[in-house]
Amino acid sequence: MSTVVSIDGRLFPPGQPQISVFDRGFLYGDSIYEVLRTYRGHLFEVEAHLARLRGSAQLIGLTLPLPAELLRTRMDDAVRASRTSESYVRLIVTRGEGEIGLDPALAVDPHVIVIVRALQPPPPEVYRDGVEVTVVDVRRNLRQAIDPAAKTGNYLNSVLALREARARGGYEALMLDSLGRVTEGSSSNVFAVTGGKVVTPPLDGILEGVTRRVVLDLARDLGLTATEAELFPEELFRADELFLTSTIRELVPVVRVDGQAIAKGKPGPVTRRLLEAFRKRAEPD
Ligand code: PDD
Repeated sequence: MSTVVSIDGRLFPPGQPQISVFDRGFLYGDSIYEVLRTYRGHLFEVEAHLARLRGSAQLIGLTLPLPAELLRTRMDDAVRASRTSESYVRLIVTRGEGEIGLDPALAVDPHVIVIVRALQPPPPEVYRDGVEVTVVDVRRNLRQAIDPAAKTGNYLNSVLALREARARGGYEALMLDSLGRVTEGSSSNVFAVTGGKVVTPPLDGILEGVTRRVVLDLARDLGLTATEAELFPEELFRADELFLTSTIRELVPVVRVDGQAIAKGKPGPVTRRLLEAFRKRAEPD
């Protein structure tokens, strides 16, 4: 077995499990989720992911049906059953099913779903050569609309941003907020390195990436100045290095923005150092 789905604690091979078409996750994206990965078979930063899930639940007024330890057990069980060497793990909690209607009170039994499949990390050339990002026209939604701090199943904002980026030749989209500030990628956080200083946008209208947090800590451990500060698109073009962070992709060097080379158009030394430190942290000897 490699892909395994757990629904409310029951394990299924892929294709078999069923979630109702009346589930609000399907109807409205009324759900929350986390994406984790394993290193040497162990879930990385599981407490941070579960804390963020709790935060997402709070932000959308959903009561988690299980305590954190049991959510963790569900993931561990599914990872064990999948027998993959390294796993991609998606933990989803939907508000459940009920009569069709927007009122969240129509559903009272949330479902806990875990999808585990073999990890598919980016190919080596992504790290060797770096990627291009596109500053898209699609704006990050307002905190006052759907707060990007909540990782909800309503990802259309990101889907449309990535669609635009891909159409323009970008590997990832960078979204601006309504004031024109850089926020984050469609499913990643963004960092700039300028004059040896590492900068990433503050937690105001973005998802707090677990990888972002680890990278900020590692940068400081390495003696670098690392700050959370406003970032405007012009600053991207002036940066010495740019990189993206996410659970599955770790740190990905960005060498072009909208077709324009960043510095020499090659992955930079600070990105490389941080990626090395990150991998050491994830898989200590
Ligand atoms: N996405 N920003 C957004 C909008 C994201 O969707 C993600 C992650 C991140 C990075 O967060 P982390 O470092 O915790 O993975 C930032 C996951 C991987 C996904 O939806 O597949």
